[in-house]
Amino acid sequence: MDSIAGLSREHKIENLVAGIHEVINDHDAIKEDPHMRKSLLGAARKLVAALETPVETIFRFGWQPHQNAAIRVAIALDLFALVGSSGPGGVSAADLASTTRADKALLVRIMRALVVSEVFTEVAIEQYAATPISDAWVALPLRACSRHLHDVSSLSLYHLPEFLSRSQYQNPEDPLNGPFQFAFDTDRSFFQWLDERPDRMANFNTWMEAHRQGRKNWFYSFPVERLNSPRISKDPKAVMLVDIGGGYGHDLEAFRNAFPESSGRLILEDIPQAIDELPARRKWLMEAINYDFCTPQPIIGARAYYFRSIFHAFSDSKCLEILRCTTSAMERGYSKMLINDWVLPDKGASFQAAMMDMNMMANLAGKERTESQWKSLLDQAGLLVVEIWGSSDEERVIEAVLK
Ligand SMILES: C[S@@+](CC[C@H](N)C(=O)[O-])C[C@H]1O[C@@H](n2cnc3c(N)ncnc32)[C@H](O)[C@@H]1O
Repeated sequence: MDSIAGLSREHKIENLVAGIHEVINDHDAIKEDPHMRKSLLGAARKLVAALETPVETIFRFGWQPHQNAAIRVAIALDLFALVGSSGPGGVSAADLASTTRADKALLVRIMRALVVSEVFTEVAIEQYAATPISDAWVALPLRACSRHLHDVSSLSLYHLPEFLSRSQYQNPEDPLNGPFQFAFDTDRSFFQWLDERPDRMANFNTWMEAHRQGRKNWFYSFPVERLNSPRISKDPKAVMLVDIGGGYGHDLEAFRNAFPESSGRLILEDIPQAIDELPARRKWLMEAINYDFCTPQPIIGARAYYFRSIFHAFSDSKCLEILRCTTSAMERGYSKMLINDWVLPDKGASFQAAMMDMNMMANLAGKERTESQWKSLLDQAGLLVVEIWGSSDEERVIEAVLK
């Protein structure tokens, strides 16, 4: 018997399992303490890695497409809302079949895959109830996220190994000739391709709008008082913030809601497909302009030019082109550039950041950048990094000014 601190190993493990159940029951309280949540999650992941056999781990990776296919079917049949509205007693496969008109035998197989994936629970034979995970998919933006990752991204990732083999394992850099073009047999860029498919574009933008759901907004990492200036408070024409490639204006809306008293104009810039879809409730909060960020920036001397999730989609040479289109409008000693993106540490990147990097490689021939790569890129564009705000396990805010 192996004894540590007076307890047998069996006893210690029993205590640990009881502790884990306590944590599960106190789930809501723990979620409110981000530090505790992260530390428990880290420990739980290490525990799974230590307990799983290598073969189990390999199969866990291998079965991910199967899980994603079941999730995609559930989205198509609206199963998350149907099960979610059924209450704790759940809903039967027969009822789901009669509502969706899908074959009951098929539904049982799809639901079985989702039950073992902890998405739904099986409360009786062929009877299913919701979980917090399935309830999360009732929200449109998260369904949009899964639709995009399954229908578009995963096809590029499926073809990535063959593309890399054919290109002698060179880092993909050409946005018109990368894994995405190979997978979809197109010569269009990712965004051109989306543009030509309005339903896919709308779905992508719906996902982007909620991309940071549950994560803190950039202005809680970046000290917004650094944008204060007498010019902004005195001149009604002065522009506070230009959100370049800002999609449906969600970040500017969040900014306005967080700082309702702040002065200065807020300007949203994007391509027509996004600007035309700007929700009516946001129109009075900001000015919206059709603008291609590869052309000179029309708003001169704004206090801040903000880019979120833009540069990771492009190679360094394309980023320099975009950056120079904006630096030409910046006023030395006054304008700031704020870039909200992943800033990878040279060692110890987070899971999210590493996966996003793979996503960028496969779909846009883009990349996530390390701190030194960002500094070198911005330096070449004539910018000096003043500070990088936020912690390394989330997207950060790079504050830069003209050199
Ligand atoms: C990944 S999304 C990011 C949206 C938003 N900034 C966010 O983080 O939620 C990229 C955005 O860039 C826009 N975009 C793509 N090409 C553009 C271009 N040439 N000029 C301006 N915007 C562009 C897209 O329409 C989309 O809204």
